[in-house]
Amino acid sequence: VRRWSSWPAPSSPASLPWRSDMRRPVVAANWKMHGSCATVQEFLEALLERVPQNAEAPEVVLCPPYTMIAAAAVVATASPVALGGQSCHWEEKGAFTGEVAPGMLVEVGASWVIVGHSERRQHFGESDDTALRRAKAAQQAGLRVIYCLGETLEQRDGGETFAVLERQSSVIGALEPAGVVVAYEPVWAIGTGRNASPEQAQEAHAFLRGRLRALWGPAAEGVRLLYGGSVKPDNAQALMRQPDVDGALVGGASLDAVSFLAIIQSAATV
Ligand code: PGA
Repeated sequence: VRRWSSWPAPSSPASLPWRSDMRRPVVAANWKMHGSCATVQEFLEALLERVPQNAEAPEVVLCPPYTMIAAAAVVATASPVALGGQSCHWEEKGAFTGEVAPGMLVEVGASWVIVGHSERRQHFGESDDTALRRAKAAQQAGLRVIYCLGETLEQRDGGETFAVLERQSSVIGALEPAGVVVAYEPVWAIGTGRNASPEQAQEAHAFLRGRLRALWGPAAEGVRLLYGGSVKPDNAQALMRQPDVDGALVGGASLDAVSFLAIIQSAATV
């Protein structure tokens, strides 16, 4: 890991282009609380040898723990792999022990941030309101947002899936559509090895697309909807072939460069 003074300067927020391409797939890695500065660099070196580099290739985003972003940027800057944080606070600075401001993520080379992940909702009191505040602040700092939502097993079994998705998505209308990717992550599929079927994913995504149309009008057609929850090399393609599934947010299977690459390649061939 190099000293901070030798880290490459991150692109300024103003120069981060919003992709104008219609729904170019996005494949994002959520490392959660795994890895180290050394492993993130090794992972990126392995990834960059094989990752498709052309303009039609999927967008690839790696979200390691905060402490590893700067080390990751040493390898990823000026490469096709973008970096992101796993959350951020809504204030620029202040007495918020343990929190990280959006501008701090930008400073170390991040251009994306995950917001509202179900593990934050479940274990750290994240609500629709706090998730929205984080996402707004992130956009103001020039970060692109992967906004997560999804129902629990209890909610699905109770027939509440669409009501939950409707409630969780209602706040998104306050965001700028060009900088948002929405990740549908059914909680029962996260880290369980039990992915939603392609049909279940499409049904939820089509519902969410309808919600986004109601909130944003025609701009909703260009918003990428990612599926997350036990995405693996052997189920990625069937999921991403669905018309409203525009990529994947990958947890466990993103920790290994070979399996993450296989998922990226699946996205490239749908
Ligand atoms: P998983 O996690 O792929 O390990 O199920 C996905 C996520 O939580 O983003």
